[in-house]
Amino acid sequence: MDIANKVAIVTGASGGIGHEVSLKLAAAGVRLALVAKTPEKLMALKKEIEKKGAQVIVIPTDITDGKSVEEMTAQVVNHYGRLDILVNCAFWGPPGSLEQTTEEFWDRTIDTTLKAPFLCVRASVPYMRKVGGGRIVNIGSRAGKFGEDNRTAYCAAKFGLEGLNAALREELVRDNIHVHLISPAATNTPFWPSSGAKLTPEILERFIPPETIAEAVLWVMQQPDRVIIPDVPVYNFRNPFEGKSSPFAD
Ligand SMILES: NC(=O)c1ccc[n+]([C@@H]2O[C@H](COP(=O)([O-])OP(=O)(O)OC[C@H]3O[C@@H](n4cnc5c(N)ncnc54)[C@H](OP(=O)(O)O)[C@@H]3O)[C@@H](O)[C@H]2O)c1
Repeated sequence: MDIANKVAIVTGASGGIGHEVSLKLAAAGVRLALVAKTPEKLMALKKEIEKKGAQVIVIPTDITDGKSVEEMTAQVVNHYGRLDILVNCAFWGPPGSLEQTTEEFWDRTIDTTLKAPFLCVRASVPYMRKVGGGRIVNIGSRAGKFGEDNRTAYCAAKFGLEGLNAALREELVRDNIHVHLISPAATNTPFWPSSGAKLTPEILERFIPPETIAEAVLWVMQQPDRVIIPDVPVYNFRNPFEGKSSPFAD
């Protein structure tokens, strides 16, 4: 798809990967709606994007709430007159062993990381149908393909997202809507300093730059309509965690 002048929603736009995706989409001429819960970082990104001459709006939204997601999506279409692209980057996924995974922790992880992408897709698809098609990119994870120690709820959510992605890919073909999954491993984003993981310069050196994930996002959606790239795993060349499946392993 030629993405210039198209309209995109990026959830988690204030996070590490969402920020880079937003910058690259803007540079490619896409008109943007930046979404996350807290407005401050979104406003800073909006300023950065506007300086480069791109069109951008900010819509602070808790995307775990279905009604708020419907309203946010309608607001985007009221503003730009159309919707073509959805990139689901938002998530919540701190480490947690089986014992640490309370019902509340489980619900928040699943709601933000699995239910919210479903809600955003459900709200966006009717508008994409109106313009004859679209592109949906879900950010999965290596943790959605292999189990990771002390990440019970997060792994469950990401395996679930893979299932959601596969089902949507089949269902939305008839609407000319392509559904893609990008599955990163450890990527250098603000998630890590807040995660409690012990990070040395040697570990960080092995992390994936968020720009690389953003490049993969743009690449999948720019392929010809007759091609589908279902999933792009992007892994660390060398395991940053000395052979462990996660830095949270005991
Ligand atoms: N970083 C990695 O190593 C890595 C590896 C594999 C996969 N991934 C995946 O890549 C994606 C992006 O990760 P990241 O590391 O860039 O994330 P991040 O920097 O931690 O940012 C998370 C984003 O999600 C937003 N968010 C959280 N809860 C929300 C809610 N209820 N409603 C709306 N927005 C919400 C946050 O903003 P607010 O807090 O303001 O809402 C923030 O913008 C995620 O799907 C993650 O699973 C990351």
